[in-house]
Amino acid sequence: MINRTITDNDGVKRYLITLNVNGDARTVLVKGNAILANVLRDELNLTGTKKGCELGDCGSCTVLLEGKPVDSCMVLALEADGREIITIEGVAVNSKLDAIQESMINHAAIQCGYCTPGMVLSAKALLTRNPHPTEPEVREAISGNLCRCTGYVHIVEAVLAASEGRLAPGEHEYPREEGDSI
Ligand code: FES
Ligand code: FES
Repeated sequence: MINRTITDNDGVKRYLITLNVNGDARTVLVKGNAILANVLRDELNLTGTKKGCELGDCGSCTVLLEGKPVDSCMVLALEADGREIITIEGVAVNSKLDAIQESMINHAAIQCGYCTPGMVLSAKALLTRNPHPTEPEVREAISGNLCRCTGYVHIVEAVLAASEGRLAPGEHEYPREEGDSI
């Protein structure tokens, strides 16, 4: 819900909106053409959301909007007004990494790390709606997230391992606690 509009001396209209980011209501003043990725990074200092192509091709800017992965470079901040957004900063809970994050570390699924925030969020959306995906389903879920470094094999293994509650092959299982989310 747009709280109010303000027109500058230069005639530019700005909108006071509220983004529900990682569980917090954040009110920001944005231009009508402000892009969500830029507002998250520049106004809210949530720089874990990366920008690559800014064309909706690479997925590095992926965030969850109402639980669904979206390219935040292709979403107007106004469109996200009043809606729930999860960025990579909101994935770990009380400093405890999500199982997908742990698994990606344990499977060496990160090299430069630029794709990782978007990759984690796409994987998280998948495991939330489908806790036990097949390998093709994992590959499909992350197909919008390009990685220049890893070749995807370790990433796919990491997501599958997280879905199965295990660490790297041969290692012990996650000490899952009741209520843990993946
Ligand atoms: S920066 Fe958004 S899809 Fe590439
Ligand atoms: S780890 Fe470098 S782009 Fe994926």
